[in-house]
Amino acid sequence: MASGALILGIETSCDETAAAVVRQGREILSSVVASQIPIHSPYGGVVPELASREHLRNILPVVRATLEQAGIGYDDLVAIAVTEGPGLAGALLVGITFAKSLAFAAQKPLVAVNHLEGHIHAVLLEEARRQASDPNLTPEGRPPARPALLALVVSGGHTHLYLAETRSSGIGEPVWSYRNVGRTVDDAAGEAFDKVAKLLGLGYPGGPWIDALAPHGNPQAVPFTFAQIKAKAHRRGEPGALDPATATYFSYSGIKTAVLRYTHVHEMEASIESRRAALANLPSPTPADALPLCDQRTLDLIASFQRSVVDDLHRKTFRAAEQFGVDRVLVSGGVAANRELRVRFTAEAAERNLLIAFPSLALSTDNAAMIAAAAWPKFLAGVFAPEALTAEPSLALGGKPR
Ligand code: KG4
Ligand code: ZN
Repeated sequence: MASGALILGIETSCDETAAAVVRQGREILSSVVASQIPIHSPYGGVVPELASREHLRNILPVVRATLEQAGIGYDDLVAIAVTEGPGLAGALLVGITFAKSLAFAAQKPLVAVNHLEGHIHAVLLEEARRQASDPNLTPEGRPPARPALLALVVSGGHTHLYLAETRSSGIGEPVWSYRNVGRTVDDAAGEAFDKVAKLLGLGYPGGPWIDALAPHGNPQAVPFTFAQIKAKAHRRGEPGALDPATATYFSYSGIKTAVLRYTHVHEMEASIESRRAALANLPSPTPADALPLCDQRTLDLIASFQRSVVDDLHRKTFRAAEQFGVDRVLVSGGVAANRELRVRFTAEAAERNLLIAFPSLALSTDNAAMIAAAAWPKFLAGVFAPEALTAEPSLALGGKPR
């Protein structure tokens, strides 16, 4: 059974309709992502109603395309996996309803996957593939699976730290468990990139725009400071509370306000509006189009913003790695595509003699290969979705309340 074991993954939690076929949690046969960026772009953020409508429109063609690219039919699958949460309720429901109907019609088991666990598996998938394809790494010669790692999941909706641990399951594949040890108390880091890009008249989503423009500015020009976050509202026992003794808190709404204030103080409104209007006149504007529309002060502001966010993510993540004594750090989610973040995390890991891993760029942002990969150990362990499976918009990872 295991040799050809193919899982169809389906992901519709936010603004990408995605489907993928993955063999044994590590070999991607096909991965199709229909992005809704052009639909949401004029609004500078995801519009939930439009997202659900687009998922409805795209789900069948995307699933058909992925099966066709993999050269398989429904009969070749061992299971269907779908994101159950967290995410937008209406968007999640499209994927879940489709996956349930498909599983019923094709008589395949259905596996429910937490989107955040999916992001972690985007990295594990590629690691497993590298190990499987390296002739020097025979099962005996393989480095022993490290029992614990720290995962930073950093995207448009999440800034979370997880301590992930494996235990041998007797089924040939480790079973993963997670403990949430850090989170944002307000905006996610990716949300800050998106909001700052929007308020500076740049495109959506903002991360890739800021990433591309930041190297043209001086990151020391504007000193942003992060306030100490009080654990008051996040005490033990309250929903989403972490262990106060070890919790790491992030906060990114303050820096967005600080950027806005900076633009007021330096009277940048007129140049922002003219940039916004110039880009709106282009059919598909890119960061390269924005560069000549940004003066040095704007570029310095962008570079300083990015440096501050990356600094904060990096300082807190490595502090937590030290606190928990892990020797391996994973960074995943859309913001993990950021070039400065990758350079800074890689350098720090080398200095501390830690292993660091990121997904390839295609697997950093939302995709369904990570969902099919995360489903594989669950499938082996026989952990299937109940018939009553429904969207869980605030699903947590790591045993915290829903
Ligand atoms: O993982 P993802 O596709 O969706 C969520 O689960 O949220 O992440 C999207 C987020 C957006 O906020 C986007 O601006 C950010 O990831 N992002 C980046 C970069 N590429 C995408 N942020 C910083 N630098 C990038 N290169
Ligand atoms: Zn995501």
